[in-house]
Amino acid sequence: MSETEPSGLTPQHVAIIMDGNGRWAASRGRPRAFGHRKGVEAVREAVRNAGELGVRYLTLFSFSTENWNRPAAEVEALFELLRRFVAADLDRLHAEGVRVRILGRREGLGEELLKLIGSVERQTAGNDRFFLNIAFNYGGRDEIIRAARLAAEAHGGDLSRVRETDFARYLDTADLPDPDLVIRTSGEHRISNFLLWQAAYAEFVFMDTLWPDFDKAAFEQALSEFASRDRRYGGVRHG
Ligand code: IPE
Ligand code: IPE
Ligand code: MG
Repeated sequence: MSETEPSGLTPQHVAIIMDGNGRWAASRGRPRAFGHRKGVEAVREAVRNAGELGVRYLTLFSFSTENWNRPAAEVEALFELLRRFVAADLDRLHAEGVRVRILGRREGLGEELLKLIGSVERQTAGNDRFFLNIAFNYGGRDEIIRAARLAAEAHGGDLSRVRETDFARYLDTADLPDPDLVIRTSGEHRISNFLLWQAAYAEFVFMDTLWPDFDKAAFEQALSEFASRDRRYGGVRHG
């Protein structure tokens, strides 16, 4: 890598903290679940738009390890939406050459969902036109600690020679490039335990748009903000 690297281009990998479904619904006097359903439509649109805008990897945060703190009915609604999304969209995504992966902790997901995840990952494993990662039951700290356990197992308990690149192989994102751009919708300015390791040098774009309203124009706006950034990776300013 050169000393500095102006982004100037389309990011290869975009990760999105899809936030604001609840507020979107509340502003219409509707239950939170209504916002989540609308949020799934925005997911479909985002996948399509990412492809059209030249992004190759899209990682979407859809349920965090902290989201278990929500009322049981909302948690169930979010699980049901993932099940339905996978069931309804799998064949189309596969036909379009999309490789789908689910990032996050498997424990606590239930047998039916685990089976679905297994089948979507297997069915699309050979695809390489576009990469869709859904972070579900995902927490960055949880991922790092699971990776540390796996690394320790693989190295006989001695991590003294494990380098960053070795360690990254035990993360859920093993063979994925790091995100270039992390977008968070809904006006919150925090990372909420998303991709803590992988986002080390990502550019962040925070937008006021609520997730159900995240359309192509919003996506383009985030990409153009990214293109104006100067990625220095600890080096010096360009030009
Ligand atoms: C969606 O938005 C994010 C998920 C956890 C599914 P929220 O449900 O957090 O909506 P707000 O932040 O309450 O508006
Ligand atoms: C982050 O949104 C998690 C997802 C988008 C899945 P939250 O709404 O759960 O985050 P906080 O609680 O505002 O930090
Ligand atoms: Mg939220």
